[in-house]
Amino acid sequence: HPGDGYLAWQQYRRNTAGVNVDQYAVYKHIVVDAQEGAVIRSAVDELAQGMEGITGTKVSISGDNESAPGIIIGIFGTGTGIDELFSAGVSSAVKAEGYAIQTDSLTGNIAIGAVTSAGILYGVFHLLRIMGTGGSVRQLSIVENPVNQLRMINQWDNMDGSVERGYAGKSIFYEDNRITGNLQRIQDYARLLASSGINAIAINNVNVHRVESRLLTEFLPDVAKLAAIFRAYAIKLFLSVNYASTMEIGGLPSADPLDSDVREWWRAAASEIYAAIPDFGGFLVKADSENRPGPFTYGRDHADGANMLAEALKPHGGIVIWRCFVYNCKQDWRDRTTDRARAAYDHFQPLDGRFMDNVILQVKNGPIDFQVREPVSPLLGAMPQTNQVIEFQIAQEYTGQQRHVCYLVPQWKEILNFDTHLQGEGTSVKRIVDGSVHGNAYSGFAAVSNIGNDTNWTGHLLAQANLFGYGRLAWNPQMSAEKIALEWIMLTFGTNELLVQTILDILMNSWEIYESYTAPLGVGFMVNPDHHYGPNVDGYEYSMWGTYHFADCYGIGVDRTTATGTGYTSQYARTNMERYESLESCPDELLLFFHHVPYTHVLHSGKTVIQHIYDTHFAGAERASQLAAAWELVKDQVGEQAYRQVADRLAEQAEHAKEWRDRINTYFLRKSGIADQWGRTIY
Ligand code: GCU
Repeated sequence: HPGDGYLAWQQYRRNTAGVNVDQYAVYKHIVVDAQEGAVIRSAVDELAQGMEGITGTKVSISGDNESAPGIIIGIFGTGTGIDELFSAGVSSAVKAEGYAIQTDSLTGNIAIGAVTSAGILYGVFHLLRIMGTGGSVRQLSIVENPVNQLRMINQWDNMDGSVERGYAGKSIFYEDNRITGNLQRIQDYARLLASSGINAIAINNVNVHRVESRLLTEFLPDVAKLAAIFRAYAIKLFLSVNYASTMEIGGLPSADPLDSDVREWWRAAASEIYAAIPDFGGFLVKADSENRPGPFTYGRDHADGANMLAEALKPHGGIVIWRCFVYNCKQDWRDRTTDRARAAYDHFQPLDGRFMDNVILQVKNGPIDFQVREPVSPLLGAMPQTNQVIEFQIAQEYTGQQRHVCYLVPQWKEILNFDTHLQGEGTSVKRIVDGSVHGNAYSGFAAVSNIGNDTNWTGHLLAQANLFGYGRLAWNPQMSAEKIALEWIMLTFGTNELLVQTILDILMNSWEIYESYTAPLGVGFMVNPDHHYGPNVDGYEYSMWGTYHFADCYGIGVDRTTATGTGYTSQYARTNMERYESLESCPDELLLFFHHVPYTHVLHSGKTVIQHIYDTHFAGAERASQLAAAWELVKDQVGEQAYRQVADRLAEQAEHAKEWRDRINTYFLRKSGIADQWGRTIY
């Protein structure tokens, strides 16, 4: 499918702009001792296919190095001679999913060594990334191990073919309440995920309804087929389960986690699953959250519920990933004492120490819900005896729904670099989620996918950068957002300098631009109810969802201080608590998340809150319209189809940003009665 975005960052094209392709073309031979095992086969296929595309010549595959230089692949310690091709100490530095790549200066041979076939696969993708971005292969000396153990994708796909918060078409997994027959597309997705470093996937929505409950039972043979596809790319398959499966499909009268019949049902279900899928990953669970069933019904808590499932999976090596997105979604807006931001911590933190060791709690990055700006969830790291993974949303539910461009890696980086101070200075979120702070058995990243059956996977072509970037960041959170963007741009579009710089600028500015014309200063929401697209300042103000801004004619914001507000700030370690608690030290971008202030309050920037709102909204809409002009510069480099896809969306974004600007500015002019200092048009 040339040019339509289907190949995403796996173009494997001859890339001649400023690149010496000849240095790759001398490699016409892949040497691999035994091609046993699906993952090794995937790796070798990928390498052959990639090399052929990049060099334009066919490569051969065999057990001997017939014509040096070749690319030699092998597992360390298996007597194939691979160990000897590396400098001393290299093979022992490589861990489970890691790899080493080294060029021999005499022969020019490139060796890829690993201790598992998954490591080989990642090593192959690394080499292809170097070639695809025009890097030199003459002196490679690379050792890489993933920083995070679990690097997971969550599909929010329903079996009727819809995707919850999906902005790129229908599900690639399901149609008409069945698992798809289009297994090729699933395999292509597995390749994309593996090439960015993903090693786990939950294939159905966390909101599990009746038909999806049967994935555990009658659909199991088809689930096993999907598991086989992902297995060949070293990706473990998980299922989201209905907490009340015993009642929904099991014919039992209860889902009480302490009921012996209920426990027995889950044990039997787990045995059946492992008989069909011996390396099944485990269950992902949304319980007692947004009207989904859970242990509360029986007077039990989350630990009781999670442990019941963990016990069933334990003999098979499976894990339970239990989500912490639990809050009262039937709040009365008149009730100022309930604060949704507090909920995850209040529910879970007291349970530290009660979860089995094969339970992981999955915590959303912020306390509310994937807003363009939120503080970091205080629950992250606050349960030293409990495994945790952080949950991001690659799908742009609140960041433009893949109609606006919003490169999210800079946001994720900021979150990962946040210092929780939980064990003194330097207790960053990335060190909590990589398991090193608390020495967890399990830890890592999870994120909601942004793909669907649109030809280019993500609707907005530039949104592919978020899927790629998530995987790369999960592998190594030290990578800069810019480096990740550069890799993605070059692999996807080529190495032309103007093109690379132009797209880089668009991506790197996009989050700030989106934030500047939407909800200001961390206050969140202000979107249309239900679908969450487009401006509606009071859309949730009088609803039961707990997401309010409290704007009146004097001021705006939520008082979450301990002194006079909801006490949310007390959930942070002292240093952060004090920073957020005080108006003097609270960062501008989160001011309205933590404080209710008059419109005339002066920010650190020197502007009043009201003038900041006006200024950012005018500037943001203006900058959004410049994105389209920037994209036009690369028209000839990206090809007609790709150009059109993005140009149309940028045009829509520019228009929609004006709508945002005018709704927000008008609302606040009317509420505050304070004119814009510069006298611009506000309606
Ligand atoms: C958000 C989203 C829901 C989703 C929920 C969740 O609230 O709007 O569609 O189900 O998050 O993460 O469970």
